[in-house]
Amino acid sequence: MIENIIFNDLDELGRAITLLHPSNLSVEIGTGNGHFIVALALNNKNDLIIGCDIKLDRLNKTLKKVKNNQIENILLYRGRGEELLSFFPDNSIKSLYVNFPDPWPKKRHNKRRFFNQERIKLIFNKLSSEGILYFVSDHKEYFFSVIEMFKESDFIPIFENYYAVNIDYYYPTLYFEKFKKEGKDIYFSFIKKPLIL
Ligand SMILES: C[S@@+](CC[C@H](N)C(=O)[O-])C[C@H]1O[C@@H](n2cnc3c(N)ncnc32)[C@H](O)[C@@H]1O
Repeated sequence: MIENIIFNDLDELGRAITLLHPSNLSVEIGTGNGHFIVALALNNKNDLIIGCDIKLDRLNKTLKKVKNNQIENILLYRGRGEELLSFFPDNSIKSLYVNFPDPWPKKRHNKRRFFNQERIKLIFNKLSSEGILYFVSDHKEYFFSVIEMFKESDFIPIFENYYAVNIDYYYPTLYFEKFKKEGKDIYFSFIKKPLIL
């Protein structure tokens, strides 16, 4: 059991991962208050799940849930998801979850969005053979702009036409629950890296 599971330093996180020598590695970027990662960890006890957020207060809320549930397969990184991804070796991540990334709706802020062509290439390289990227958003314009990028990538879609609306077999996130209550449509795209022979 590792005492302090929130890391600010990627090399220290790397050492902790090596110590746990997991058979599978999953990553959630933008863990928020931690509802999703905790459900994921409880249901996938053989996987090590790395959560990441830029905000320490949110990571501390996740830490509380991890302790309350006596979870031993979560490590957290405080920093940017793109730095975390770059740190992993190629072909090393089984599943990557990006739930409700900030949409940055104003045109002049679009450059701050998590997804862009370059990032999708980075994700492709880091996922393992048949690894899956899970992307969820309520923001229609952002979502469909990302779908266009997926279509230009080497990823294989899991849903016909690359997306589904309002599926009910997904772990809850704070935003998911909030938007569901408001009756908002939620868009899901799961895409798979092809088998590496
Ligand atoms: C809209 S909230 C969604 C939170 C959670 N995924 C949910 O569905 O309830 C976006 C989260 O991503 C975090 N975030 C924003 N940019 C990030 C980045 N570059 N890397 C990691 N986390 C980021 C924010 O601090 C925030 O907690």
